[in-house]
Amino acid sequence: MTPSRLDVPLRERLIVALDLPRVLDARNMVAALGDEVVFYKLGLQQVFGGGLGLVDELFRLGKKVFLDAKLTDIAATVGNAVTNISRSGAEFLTVTGDAPIVRAAADARSKAGARKPLILAVTVLTSLDQQDLADMGFSMPLEDLVAHRALKAKEAGADGVIASGFEAAKLRALLGPDMRIVTPGIRSADSPKDDQKRVMTAGEAIRAGADHVVVGRDILRSPDPAKKARAILDDIAGAL
Ligand code: C5P
Repeated sequence: MTPSRLDVPLRERLIVALDLPRVLDARNMVAALGDEVVFYKLGLQQVFGGGLGLVDELFRLGKKVFLDAKLTDIAATVGNAVTNISRSGAEFLTVTGDAPIVRAAADARSKAGARKPLILAVTVLTSLDQQDLADMGFSMPLEDLVAHRALKAKEAGADGVIASGFEAAKLRALLGPDMRIVTPGIRSADSPKDDQKRVMTAGEAIRAGADHVVVGRDILRSPDPAKKARAILDDIAGAL
């Protein structure tokens, strides 16, 4: 197996998805997690629910931010958005993994003279199956399409990809040790899977080649979120 060469501090390997209905809920969760969690993902729910201000709040608390915007548009518009996001200090940004979009994002960041955000490509949404792809006109087997799009995204300047734990090992071998692999769909062995079809524990995902895991409900719904986060970090530490 090709191991990652990225030197990521243990705590930064766990990214908590702040998928909560209100900004206040997100703020309370960050307080409850305290020092255990240093990296948070903000998605469309927060951004369009008045939560963009959370980015600055999180920075003031010394946290890192993953902006899960899944940007997709013509190159000029994506580029202009990334120019602005480059000023925000966000660590990671997702874009749809079409090569022109990835290239526009990577070029805009470098023109802004910024090191961040790292551009992470979404290859094929894990909610899509082979039939959905056929409906969209793709005949390639899903796994091959993920690999093909990941490689094209890398060539276009992506810093990493979002990938399920089940794709991580193959993508790590394909993309080499320097691409960042960020893996959602994480559940502790004793947790419900919810709408995630294929889940892994954090440790399994890291062993499979992921650099970071994204965890939402497993932590957000726990009666003791900080304890749960600690257990997940222990699981990750055991895998390193
Ligand atoms: O609650 P759970 O841990 O399943 O949440 C996973 C997070 O990762 C959610 O914010 C979800 O939008 C995101 N995600 C995912 N699968 C992808 C891409 C993102 O679950 N393929």
